Amino acid sequence: MTVTIVGSQLGDEGKGGVVDIYGDGADVVVRYQGGDNAGHTVVLGEETYKLSLVPSGAVRGTVGVLGNGCVVNPETLFEEIDALRERGLDPDVRVAERAHVILPYHRVLDGIEEEAKDDLAAGTTKRGIGPTYEDKAGRRGVRVGDLLDPEVLRERLEYVVPQKRALASEVYGVDPDEAFDVDALFETYREYGERLADEEMTVNCSDYLNRRLDDGDDVVFEGAQGTALDIDYGVYPYVTSSNPSAGGVAVGAGVAPAVVGDGDVIGIVKAYLSRVGTGPLPTELGGVEGQTPGYDGPADADDEAESLAAYIRDEGGEYGTVTGRPRRVGWLDMPMLRHAARTSGFTGIVVNHVDTLAGLDEVTVGHSYTMTTRDGETRELDTMPPTTEQWARCEANLRTFDGWPDVDWADVVDAGWEGLPEAARTYLTYVSEELDVDLYAVGVGPGREETIVLEDPFD
Ligand code: GDP
Ligand code: IMO
Ligand code: MG
Repeated sequence: MTVTIVGSQLGDEGKGGVVDIYGDGADVVVRYQGGDNAGHTVVLGEETYKLSLVPSGAVRGTVGVLGNGCVVNPETLFEEIDALRERGLDPDVRVAERAHVILPYHRVLDGIEEEAKDDLAAGTTKRGIGPTYEDKAGRRGVRVGDLLDPEVLRERLEYVVPQKRALASEVYGVDPDEAFDVDALFETYREYGERLADEEMTVNCSDYLNRRLDDGDDVVFEGAQGTALDIDYGVYPYVTSSNPSAGGVAVGAGVAPAVVGDGDVIGIVKAYLSRVGTGPLPTELGGVEGQTPGYDGPADADDEAESLAAYIRDEGGEYGTVTGRPRRVGWLDMPMLRHAARTSGFTGIVVNHVDTLAGLDEVTVGHSYTMTTRDGETRELDTMPPTTEQWARCEANLRTFDGWPDVDWADVVDAGWEGLPEAARTYLTYVSEELDVDLYAVGVGPGREETIVLEDPFD
């Protein structure tokens, strides 16, 4: 059977940790979209693992698969595998031959295009994700299987690289460096192909997974990013270039929708919102320069929204892992969650970071929106509107809940649901009832042991 883990919001909801918890019962963990734009954390005692490409089951020694819906940078994949080996793990990663390869020119172009886009820039991770998916759709991509066949690899590169050189130099006025050199690329990527072959890492993903399922194995699909970053269901154009929502599994791993639908689809929810990147955010608290549209600093020194944002940001560690930049934060956005639950068909949710909000007098949610149209008419919405321009015209109708105290969370985990402060239970019950899905687990800290598990999808 399968269990699918999907981000409900804007990424970083704590998907990696949930894969680790439920991965106890899994035989295979599969990424079905995205690439090394992801950063999934598994905390095990004193050890923290930050995984970008290696599926989170690696911490438990479970086989990981990068499905054909992923875009794979062999350089960062091998770096990550080598670093994990140095730390004593033995990641067994299989890569779909149909997955597309991120080449150096994709990364260069991601950076150049972000700058050129100005206000339309999503604030990408600059890992080359968008340009690689563009080439996939444009039928000029290089696939993992091509790395194993030097003749095909050279043919593909000879076709596509001159186009990329021209794009860089003639459209963007940037001098193409070795990232745009056919011979250099061929040598390096042929070697990656050899390593993939030597370590027997490549698979026919759909065939491999269906055989494992036929043998009775349990599979976890590990979504990256989140529904509001989905290229179809997210806040376009401030999105990633793949489908993190559950529909992405069937296409991105080659497992039939009915098989995916037969298992649980679990939405991972952060108890508030955080966002890296630009675009509107109706429940945002305060702002972050360079990311919040039109924001150029706090209105005054003791602005309440700003101090709440600072509190949540500090308690939740909401700073970029690489840059250290503050992330945007806001209250839970229920229309965003209703949209996520519907598009992926959640059968359950896990709410993380309940400890982060502890100590606030009140906890607020955006329950619904009032959208003002261009003609000045108002409309009530309980889900996200289809365009980002409409979303920017939404004002959140807030609901306030009593806050809960900071307690000894280890005791709470021991006591289970009843051990949670009553106000936290009221909040969680509201979220679960509004979405009409069961609460499967509650995160009260980053560690494996800091989660109250109410339902195990493999039981
Ligand atoms: P992912 O991308 O969805 O896997 O999430 P990230 O790993 O990028 O970000 C989640 C961060 O929050 C990580 O540092 C986790 O260790 C941490 N985290 C996850 N769940 C909880 C929780 O319930 N409480 C707290 N305080 N931290 C959590
Ligand atoms: P995980 O799996 C949070 C954001 C970027 C940017 C937009 C597009 O750890 O939850 P991209 O590089 O994908 O073209 O960037 O998406 N983004 C993420 N934000 N968590 C992620 O992954 C993200 N992956 C991409 O910040 O706004
Ligand atoms: Mg992350």
